[in-house]
Formats: sequence, C-alpha cells, structure tokens
Amino acid sequence: MDYRHEPVMLKEVMDFLRVQSGDTVVDCTLGGGGYTNVISQTVGDSGTVLAIDADEMAIRNAEFKIQNSELGQNIILAHDNFRNLKKIIEKNQLQEIRAIVFDCGLSSAQLQDRTRGFSFELDAPLNMSFGIHPPAGEAGHIATEDIINKWQLEKLKEIIRNYGEERFAGRIASAIVRNRLFFRTKELANAIRAAVPNNYERGRIDPATRTFQALRIATNDELASLQEGLAAAVDALAAGGRVVVVSFHSLEDRIVKQLFKREASACVCPPEVLQCVCNHQPRLKILTKKVVAATAAEIARNPRARSAKLRAAEKLNF
Ligand SMILES: C[S@@+](CC[C@H](N)C(=O)[O-])C[C@H]1O[C@@H](n2cnc3c(N)ncnc32)[C@H](O)[C@@H]1O
Repeated sequence: MDYRHEPVMLKEVMDFLRVQSGDTVVDCTLGGGGYTNVISQTVGDSGTVLAIDADEMAIRNAEFKIQNSELGQNIILAHDNFRNLKKIIEKNQLQEIRAIVFDCGLSSAQLQDRTRGFSFELDAPLNMSFGIHPPAGEAGHIATEDIINKWQLEKLKEIIRNYGEERFAGRIASAIVRNRLFFRTKELANAIRAAVPNNYERGRIDPATRTFQALRIATNDELASLQEGLAAAVDALAAGGRVVVVSFHSLEDRIVKQLFKREASACVCPPEVLQCVCNHQPRLKILTKKVVAATAAEIARNPRARSAKLRAAEKLNF
C-alpha cells in the first residue's frame, strides 16, 4: 500500500510532547503514521502508543507496516473517531497517559484518493467522509450528497459561510439549489466556479476551495469532534502530561485556543460578574503563548505546512 503523507511540524510536535522511554502516548490522528512512528521509537519496547483514525485506509496501512516491522510492535490501533477518546482509552485499559497529539484535517493520501471526493481537482463521487465505512448511525456523520442534494438553501448557505468563511456563500448556495442534483466533485466544482465573480480572490485560490472545506467540515462534524476530543484529552492526561494540537484553519485554531484558555483560567465567570463565584480550578498551563508556525524551510519543502498552527499545553498537578 502506498500511503503518502509528509508529517507537518514533526520536530516541533515532538519537542512539545516531550515523550520519554516507557511512556504511554495517544496519537489521535494516525494518518500515514509519521508522528506515531517517531513516538513509537521514542517510547521504546517498555512504552505504548495508541494510534486512532476514523479512516480504514490509515488503519490498514499501519497494520501492514506493523506486520512488516516498518512500524513498532508497541502500537495499538483504534479505528474510531477521536471524539470517543474516553471510551477508546478505557477499552484499551491505558493509564498514566503522558502525551496526546492531534493533527487535524485530512492527509495527502486522502486528498489524492481518486475514489473519494475531497479534491475538486479530481473527479470522484461526492463523499467527503473520513471514515470510508463509518459505523451505521455514527454520531455526527452526514453524507455529503445529502447536504448538497437535500439541505434547504438557508442551511446550505450557513455552513458555506461559517465553515468555509466564504464571502459568496449566498450565491453559491443558490446555484447549488438551482442546479442540483449533484453526484460528482467536478460537476459541483464547476457550478461553484460559475456562481462567483470572474476575478474571485484575484485568482489566488480556486473558487471551489472554501465550499469544499465547508462540506468536509459539515460531513465529518469536525468542529464538534475536535471540541469533544480535546476536552476528553485534558481529562485523560496524567499530571505533567502534555497535549499538542496542529490545526489548519482558523475555526479549528479558535476551538483549541479557547479550550486551552478556559482550562488555564482560575475564573470563568462572565465579565459582568464583579466577584468570582465559579471556583474554577485551572487544569492546564499553556506552553505556546503565541501560536507556533512552521519554519520557512519546511514550508518551502512542504507547502501544506503553510497554514499549520501548533498549540501545546501541560496538565497541572492538583
Ligand atoms: C493530517 S492527517 C494526520 C497525519 C499524521 N500526523 C502523519 O504524520 O501521518 C489527519 C488524519 O486524522 C484523521 N481524522 C480526522 N478527524 C478525525 C477524527 N475526528 N477522528 C479520528 N480520526 C480523524 C484523518 O482520517 C486523517 O487520517
């Protein structure tokens, strides 16, 4: 199996995770196994890495590599959504978790998979699900085709505007509703391109970019998954343990920033409350006062790193 993905900010991720021999670590987004591999080598035979992915393709690829000794025997694989982190950790009876990492979004292998609909440059069925075969009725999973072909105009416009941060959400949503049904990525991308002004973003990005991002986020309920997964990670970490998140757009980064801020605050009372009544106990120390970006050298080597934003925090002793 040829699963291509160049890990982003690997050195920075490992520096912040501060993993040591014998540690138990969770990689919530296995992907091509770039982080998992280095973590596995660092924790060694006395340590454990639990590697999670919603995508069967990532799990199969890692299974194959473990069997062929290209990945370590200390890796436990879980084909699941990281929003179920608490259950996954309990099922695998893991304790004293020293580090947890999230590398959000999708991998290059998924983007380039011709059988899936993540890319507007390839013609494929309109399926933007991370799980090729998501468990029936899995929370939050919606078929991309249903969003496009069944959702009402206002709801469609709302996700394109909110998840795609798309200025022309109204025009695009109207064009979709007027011209549907759609079953293939190319026909959808063409309808989007026809709906926006000719000089869209002065030619800097394809007009379909933001709408495709919005559809992917809605299909996988990505923002709620991150919120739930990250909250579970903070609960699960041992004292002194670290959580690192690499995100690729401002909506994800805002969730990470706000959750870290809240967990690091001694008071979460609303501003109008003059004297604190919440008795909130801070559980995190923020390690990245400002978001960390990839180096120019990495961006030159791997343009995907351009939009990466890393935030890290440490669980307090209390
Ligand atoms: C950017 S890739 C990870 C790449 C990985 N760090 C590496 O070095 O190869 C993101 C992966 O996370 C998975 N993923 C995204 N959201 C997920 C979720 N909510 N639960 C589980 N896996 C998820 C995707 O299927 C994809 O394989």
